[in-house]
Amino acid sequence: MHNMLKNFYLTSTLISFLGAVELEKYDASKIADVFYQLSGDTNNPHKKINHTKGFCALGEFIPNPKATKRFDIPLLRENSIPTQARFSLGGGNPNESDKSKARGLALKIQGAKDSFETVMLNTEINFAKDPDEFGTYFALRVPKNGKVDTEKLAYYTENVHSFKQHAEYMKNLGITPSVANTTYYSIHTFYVKEGEKWIPARWKFVPTQGEKTLSEAELKTLGENFLEQDFKTKIAKKPITYTMLLVLANPNDITDQTTALWSGKHTEIPLGTLKINTFDGTSCNQDVFMPNILPQGISEPKDPLFDVRNAVYGITFGRRQ
Ligand code: HEM
Repeated sequence: MHNMLKNFYLTSTLISFLGAVELEKYDASKIADVFYQLSGDTNNPHKKINHTKGFCALGEFIPNPKATKRFDIPLLRENSIPTQARFSLGGGNPNESDKSKARGLALKIQGAKDSFETVMLNTEINFAKDPDEFGTYFALRVPKNGKVDTEKLAYYTENVHSFKQHAEYMKNLGITPSVANTTYYSIHTFYVKEGEKWIPARWKFVPTQGEKTLSEAELKTLGENFLEQDFKTKIAKKPITYTMLLVLANPNDITDQTTALWSGKHTEIPLGTLKINTFDGTSCNQDVFMPNILPQGISEPKDPLFDVRNAVYGITFGRRQ
């Protein structure tokens, strides 16, 4: 065997035996650079660099009075809160197929005195527990001399625990025919005020119409662009609604890792209903939704990704003006 190759395999074996792959360091600006290397378009410097394909909608968030009594979140004392929504697909391709699995929902819930932005995905966990893993995940997908190093990508996917776990999770995730059949998750664990205590919790927006996924045969009958039309057809008849459930952490749940799956039974508290009733085209596509715009009574996660995540959104928003 060629010496360099032999060394690579010996080192790889040793690293996988030790259970760790040494990753490059990433901060917010280096992560933003990787997004631009992967999906930047000199012909379209103003495009949103991740979750590029998406459409906008309007509606309201109607708090659940029972939860309002239990938790000290003044925003939820309003009866109906105007809300802007953006439904998106992961990745920087403006023509991404709707058959892609990664879906996003970003909300601006704008009360009279306070506001709440939440930016969610259709998965309970993500693929990176810290900025180094996050940057590496995308860097591995950047072509060098026109080609992605598929061997290296496969090696990292196998040997970085977060990547492997996420790849397995995604294999089991179906493709939904409609945003009205998709659950969206906060992934991060936030802290919610109850009396004098701050309680760790995640949230999810569960569709009233239920979750649904497409069979192989159904998938074949669909083109690459069905989500927007399906949305328009549905809301012409009645609003699309979701229940926002607060999922309280159990004592043994890991609360400072976005890659931690919470298993078993959890107390789930309906905080309110999101009611989407108007298609709003591409009006919000150039906006940024900031996960750290939180109302009084909800405080920031303690995981190592959240601050960097917000910093990157700020950088890419600035860079695409
Ligand atoms: C370090 C962690 C993360 C980084 C660096 C990152 C990076 C980005 C960037 C650069 C954008 C485009 C922002 C813009 O210019 O408007 C974006 C959008 C988005 N991200 Fe992330 N992300 C991270 C984690 C997450 C997580 C954990 C979730 C889900 C909980 C998520 C969901 C989304 C969604 C849904 C959008 C589209 C928002 C929209 O519709 O405008 N991201 N992300």
